Amino acid sequence: MFKVHAIPAKRLPALLKAMPKAELHIHIEGSLEPELIFALAQRNQVSLPYASVDALRAAYAFTNLQSFLDIYYAGASVLLHEQDFYDMAWAYFERAAADHVVHAELFFDPQTHTERGVPMQTVVHGLYRACQDARTHWGIDASLILCFLRHLSEEAALETLEQALPFRDCFIGVGLDSSEVGHPPEKFARVFARCKELGLHLVAHAGEEGPPSYIWSALDVLGVQRIDHGVQALKDERLMHRLVAERVPLTVCPLSNLKLRVFDTLADHNLGKMLDAGVCVTLNSDDPAYFGGYIGDNFVQTFEALNLTAQQAYVLARNSFEASFVSTQQREKWLHELKLCVESFVEHDD
Ligand code: HPA
Ligand code: ZN
Repeated sequence: MFKVHAIPAKRLPALLKAMPKAELHIHIEGSLEPELIFALAQRNQVSLPYASVDALRAAYAFTNLQSFLDIYYAGASVLLHEQDFYDMAWAYFERAAADHVVHAELFFDPQTHTERGVPMQTVVHGLYRACQDARTHWGIDASLILCFLRHLSEEAALETLEQALPFRDCFIGVGLDSSEVGHPPEKFARVFARCKELGLHLVAHAGEEGPPSYIWSALDVLGVQRIDHGVQALKDERLMHRLVAERVPLTVCPLSNLKLRVFDTLADHNLGKMLDAGVCVTLNSDDPAYFGGYIGDNFVQTFEALNLTAQQAYVLARNSFEASFVSTQQREKWLHELKLCVESFVEHDD
């Protein structure tokens, strides 16, 4: 019998950190720390509308998704050369390794860069090289998911896909991000259909600020395999039943939801309710440099605010592997390692 309940509460923070886990919702441009933004601005002679690291950090007082995106795109403007993309991803992997992330699927936003004249190859090769080196250096298995910016047109997304096809082997799937409300998933029906034909994995942000109907159309029109965020699903009972029945994973990001005011406080977050309902939720950082924490911080702060248990920690880590785009053999290996780790925290009477 696997006695997760026999793990004492005082050992929970250590367990949260030590558990091997997968991170499935991280925008790599959202891992750019202010210090690295300023270092790259200097290296590339890019001028920033902020006088200092502190002034930039002081601007991180967001009121909603759009107020964040405006600063996030400004921060990404310092990325020009392949080495810049490599250095950004490398800094993320260093933090991820400390949180015992063994698998990461990184979102990247090529249009943010190609629109500024940075070639697709520069973006993809820099990130891909960092992913390969993360395996050698930290044993982290990492892959890339190309996101289309939903505030731009579907034609622009189709063009971006064409530009990325010479590098098809460097990414495993596509996603949909940026300003959600007013840009429903069905706007991108054709480009997602084309991506499906190409054998790419499909995910989309839906139900972060947008209504449950966006989650329905991401599933039914785009045919996505996972929903990013999806926290608005709880407003729609029929949708909840479907997510549970079909085990559709939701990649939830509590600190992001707090900073973008989706919930007033972390104690108001519905992650616990989602877990109780049996939804396959995973816990992730979204844009850690902007939202005050990496995946480990998300675990620790959310568990504290919602009084979650060691059993729920185990379920979240298991879900992260279940929801990841890896081979069955690789998944089983991590699930076994996770079980051994959790068992090592059980206190025995003898
Ligand atoms: N939502 C939508 N688009 C994004 C986000 C997010 O949280 N982060 C980066 N792009
Ligand atoms: Zn996101």
